[in-house]
Amino acid sequence: MAEHESCIGGSDDWYTPRDMLDAIGLTFDLDPCSPGAGHWVPARQIYTKADDGLAQPWRGLVFMNPPFGGRNGHVPWLERFFDHRNGIAVVRAYTSSEWFHETVAPRAEALLFPKGKTQFIPSDEVRERLEREAAAKGKVWRNAPGHGVVLIGMGDTAINSLRNSGLGLFIDRRENLTEAA
Ligand SMILES: C[S@@+](CC[C@H](N)C(=O)[O-])C[C@H]1O[C@@H](n2cnc3c(N)ncnc32)[C@H](O)[C@@H]1O
Repeated sequence: MAEHESCIGGSDDWYTPRDMLDAIGLTFDLDPCSPGAGHWVPARQIYTKADDGLAQPWRGLVFMNPPFGGRNGHVPWLERFFDHRNGIAVVRAYTSSEWFHETVAPRAEALLFPKGKTQFIPSDEVRERLEREAAAKGKVWRNAPGHGVVLIGMGDTAINSLRNSGLGLFIDRRENLTEAA
């Protein structure tokens, strides 16, 4: 288990790798859960923890890498994302979990499983803490990728960019979804 899997609830600040965003190749209208202005997710508008992105209106094409917020804390974010129906979300590919089957499977219009494990980027604060903790044990902290992720696409713009990203296994599910469009 990688460091960022064991610190659920300890920190939300593991960021989307730039090469994944480059492969997606979109500029988003909104990042509803951002560390702040100047972060590298290409978004015209952001909400931070101080704004509470879940309590705000969402407009346009969204990129969402939700905060963990404790056990299943990402589920309300996923529900909001599916209600919004326009954008890309990235979450862990925990395909055996209840939330994957109850929240993602019935509603995701497209899924992309990137090849390889995704190395999320810790904030400076998280990295410094992990380096200190490792040093106290006589070790050197390295950012080892810990798990696979899934990108979820909603709406034509998001789905077309995932299809063309070359990141991995792309599945367009629109013809097979049972939920009313
Ligand atoms: C997993 S990080 C993703 C950051 C960035 N969107 C990315 O993809 O690199 C989640 C971010 O959500 C922020 N956050 C936590 N709670 C939030 C809330 N209620 N509203 C908005 N942002 C929040 C955290 O500060 C953190 O920067």
